[in-house]
Amino acid sequence: MNIIQVTDYKEMSQKAAEVIIHKVKQGNRMNLGLATGGTPKGLYEAMIEDHQKNGTSYQHVTTFNLDEYIGLKEQDPNSYYYYMADSLFNHIDIPKFQTYLPNGLADDYNHECEHYDRLIKALGGIDLQVLGIGQNGHIGFNEPGTPFQSSTHIVTLEESTREANARYFNTLDDVPTHAITMGISSIMNSKEILLLVSGEEKADAMQKLLHGEISEDFPASVLKRHSHVTIIADQKALSGVLVSL
Ligand code: GLP
Repeated sequence: MNIIQVTDYKEMSQKAAEVIIHKVKQGNRMNLGLATGGTPKGLYEAMIEDHQKNGTSYQHVTTFNLDEYIGLKEQDPNSYYYYMADSLFNHIDIPKFQTYLPNGLADDYNHECEHYDRLIKALGGIDLQVLGIGQNGHIGFNEPGTPFQSSTHIVTLEESTREANARYFNTLDDVPTHAITMGISSIMNSKEILLLVSGEEKADAMQKLLHGEISEDFPASVLKRHSHVTIIADQKALSGVLVSL
């Protein structure tokens, strides 16, 4: 894993935007895997700013999001569908029909999970996947204990994850209990992975990722088995590991 150390959240977001924009500008059709949460917000802002200033076009880009809550309507501001439209898609020139998220309101979830993985495969696989990390090491919504060979599936969210995400909802009770997420193997099939980590609340997770063993108890540890992972982490996230880098 290649680690790029940056000062703060702003620099992390800028660096990540540079990596993505550089690839997008090459102009080849590409599949970009996207994440939600607080971490990639600044990245999306930087992509929008670049699009407005420099006209970088996303007409040839298809996106696949990692996950979606079960049971939230598209127009619910807490759905990841809404988040992506509001934080990125509405502000760049990507055709709407080229932006995919798993459907958290599907009639048949087994079918939806299979369909999502099949779609990614049929369109050529993910070229670059953006990832954040949960405090317990989750990637997407793959909580500790998720088998590494898992494909897209339905998960029961850990209480700690619901609590961490409750800041976006009115009350903890409003946070959904389930989500649909790309599996670990779906993520690992990406040709390249860009993991963004910022803030002291992630310092422990970074420490475990860099120094712990590869274990299903800490989902992000699987990334050590991938041949093309870049981590962009800020000083606070690296505060527990700086000495040994
Ligand atoms: C959320 C998302 C993940 C995200 C993680 C960290 O629950 N499902 O994809 O990476 O938790 O979120 P944040 O960036 O807000 O810390």
